[in-house]
Parts: sequence; C-alpha cells; structure tokens
Amino acid sequence: MENWIDRIKSAETLDELESLRIAIFGKKGELAQAFANMKNVPPEEKPKVAKELNLLKQALTRAYNEKKAELDTLELQKRLKAEEIDVSLYSPRPQSGALHPVMDTMDKIIDYFVSLNFSVETGPLVEDEFHNFEALNLPDYHPARDMQDTFYFKDGKLFRTHTSPVQIRTMMQQKPPIRMISPGAVFRRDFDLTHTPQFHQVEGLMVDEEGKVSFANLKWILEDFLHTMFGDVDVRFRPSFFPFTEPSAEVDISCIFCKGNGCRVCSHTGWLEVLGCGMVDSNVFKAVGYENVSGYAFGLGVERFAMLMHQIPDLRSLFEGDLRLLEQFQ
Ligand code: PHE
Repeated sequence: MENWIDRIKSAETLDELESLRIAIFGKKGELAQAFANMKNVPPEEKPKVAKELNLLKQALTRAYNEKKAELDTLELQKRLKAEEIDVSLYSPRPQSGALHPVMDTMDKIIDYFVSLNFSVETGPLVEDEFHNFEALNLPDYHPARDMQDTFYFKDGKLFRTHTSPVQIRTMMQQKPPIRMISPGAVFRRDFDLTHTPQFHQVEGLMVDEEGKVSFANLKWILEDFLHTMFGDVDVRFRPSFFPFTEPSAEVDISCIFCKGNGCRVCSHTGWLEVLGCGMVDSNVFKAVGYENVSGYAFGLGVERFAMLMHQIPDLRSLFEGDLRLLEQFQ
C-alpha cells in the first residue's frame, strides 16, 4: 500500500490523480478492501492493524490533498497563460477618417451663426443668370460681372459664382424677417496660389422691417464672429464696392502671428482681408418683391479661413487630397 503515496506524489495531471483517487478511496478501492479485510485479522492484532490502517489513510489523504492543490494551481496558471493578452504587443491603429479641414472650418462658421438663430439654407450649384446675377443687381451690361469669371454651360446656365443666389431663392420663398446663412461650393475660372476653380463660401443675410437692421448690427456681429474664429485680433472695416450692397465694406483682421521666438507680421500691410459685406442694395429687394425692409449681407471664403486658422500657405494643397496634410487633422 505504501507505494500509493509515491504514485500520488508523482501524478502529473488532474486526470491521473482522479484515477488514483478512485483506486484508493473509491467504494471498491484499496482502502475499502483493506478495511473489509479486517474481519480476517486475528482479534489480538486488530487494534494494531486498525491503527496502522487509519494512519495510512491519513497519510494518503494528506498526500492526495497536497497533490490536488498543486495540480489545481498549475492548471490555473496554464489557463491564465493561455488567455493572457499582451498589451505591449504592437498593433497597427485602424485607419480612421476625419473631417477635411475645409469642412471642419465650415462647421465652425456654421455653428457660430446657428447659435445666433440663423437658419442654414442651401441651393443648386448650377444656377441661372437671374439668381446668380440679375436679381443681385448685376444686369447683363454691368461691368461688375467681370469680377467673377464664370463657368457657363451651353444652355446658358452656369456654375454659381457665389452662394448669394441662395439668398435670392430664400427671400422669394419666405417673408421677412429673414436671418440665414448659405454655406456651399462655388466656382470661378481662376487658378493660382490663392485661387482654385472650386472653393467654398458662407454668406449671410439678415432682413427685417425698414430701420430695424443697421450697419451697426452688421459691424457688431462680424466683429464678434471674427473674434470667435481668430481670437484677439483687431478688426477694421474698409469702404468697398459690391453691386448687391450699398454701402459696402471689406473687413480685415490684423495679422500678427506670435509663434516660437517672436512675432511675425503676415502681410506687408499687417492686415488681411477676410470678408465682404454691406447693407442690401434696394435693387435686390426690388428684384425679390420686398418693400419697406432693410437688411445686411456678408460673404466669406471658407478656404481662406481654414488657411489662416491652420497656417496653410498654399490654397491648392487643400484640394490635392495629400494624406500627409490631411492626417494632421485627425
Ligand atoms: N457675394 C460676394 C462674393 O462672392 C460676397 C459678398 C456677399 C459680399 C454679401 C458682400 C455682401 O464675392
């Protein structure tokens, strides 16, 4: 019987140990038989044999319990090892998309005006001359049509050169008061460092009863808007001309960039033009059938805002889809 202890001690698996348990402690196991054999032991030897048998049972039980604990621990360790996740392993990050910087900038611009209850209006990219020019006080013979190099289709339609036609459509569909912006793509025949044939604008329009909308309102909102977008810059309004506004102005921001070891003026004048604006010309109101109203309008190029906000030197790089640029905006 003694060698059962050695067999328990050398068991290598839980299965092996379980077979031993059954063979030793089972109903028909070694111990049970040994105890059954007690009846054949002469009475005078019984106490001695019974004692030895009990001691052996204790020793076997202890050996079994120790081995069981040891193999259980080993088994657990093996399982943990198998299920282990090595968090230090290199795993390439899945590629994720991100908003294009132009769209991201457009969203920021839209957010500002939406927070002031402006509605967001859209319109067709392919326009007719009435909505793109005529209704905006740019009749056929008007030399100002030269300001916008237009892509024409054979049927006389054209790619809209600004998003102002959306203002015309909105005014013709709705009644004042109107407080709207029109974000979207526009097209002009131009291509150099600062011009691309397609770019994006956000234009704005506010119309209410005569006398209710003033240039002061326009000035306040644009100053507040530019401070929201560019931080603590100076803003100046310069008299200008647009056929659809009178009076008109162009708006500049001071451009001093302070980066690293000092500040740099980003144009020779120290000012950068960022917006066109003015009070809506009475001829525009006439074209859409509005009377006794006043209003302001403004328009801006989204790419120019994106370039300034992210210090991108060449406008064309925004349209090349180069991942080395785009991945910086994840
Ligand atoms: N529509 C003008 C443009 O595209 C921008 C503008 C809008 C200017 C409203 C003044 C007022 O150049």
